[in-house]
Amino acid sequence: MIIAPSLLAANFGRLAREVARVNASGADWLHLDIMDGHFVPNISFGPVVVKTLRPLSRLFFDVHLMCSKPVILLEPFAEAGANQLNIHVELGDAVTPLIWRIKALGKRVGLVVNPPTSVGLAQPFLEQIDHLLIMTVNPGFGGQSFIYETLPKIQQAAAWRRDRNLHYTIAVDGGVDFQTAVECARAGADTFISGTTLFGRHNLGAAVRRLRRLVEAAKPAAAPAQASMPASQPA
Ligand code: DX5
Ligand code: ZN
Repeated sequence: MIIAPSLLAANFGRLAREVARVNASGADWLHLDIMDGHFVPNISFGPVVVKTLRPLSRLFFDVHLMCSKPVILLEPFAEAGANQLNIHVELGDAVTPLIWRIKALGKRVGLVVNPPTSVGLAQPFLEQIDHLLIMTVNPGFGGQSFIYETLPKIQQAAAWRRDRNLHYTIAVDGGVDFQTAVECARAGADTFISGTTLFGRHNLGAAVRRLRRLVEAAKPAAAPAQASMPASQPA
């Protein structure tokens, strides 16, 4: 299970100290939301900020590009220190060349599906991606309520992964709190991006540990592998 605090909910007046809090919290990834004021009606921060934060943390940097033209941003964010670049499936014909460009830059590929978008649109790309991000709010702002109608998409993503023996991680992003994270874990999510719920706590480390404990306990049991049957026992 991967816990990824979303920096969007941090205090932007003291980002270095906020990153230090995440470093000490036991979280696995730092989620970085990039908004261009066009793909979503908000603007966040760019490669210079990511580059400035990079030497302050050894965490995996998960960059979420909510941008209409990510093609012009892949290289700057790769150079700034991103470990994974997430692009939106809503970009249509642009998706395939973007995936190959991210691979050429040596970064993990994430594909994102917005709440109104069918998860079926991601299906043709499943063999090529490392990470599938199911948005559980409409992107653009932190602190929104979780959209429960997205849960079947997580189940579908987990079923495809199992049936096709693929290995992409399945993330949820938006309105992920201690209750909704459990629902997502039961549905098959393994990566939990959370802003307001985690940064809103005085003790970020305790919040990360609590979230991890809850989602670990809710994780669906793995189907027993047939090959693991001891030879001495008749099948
Ligand atoms: C929403 C962003 C999220 C956001 C989640 O557009 O993609 O990563 O930070 O924030 P919370 O957890 O507050 O909903
Ligand atoms: Zn995000």
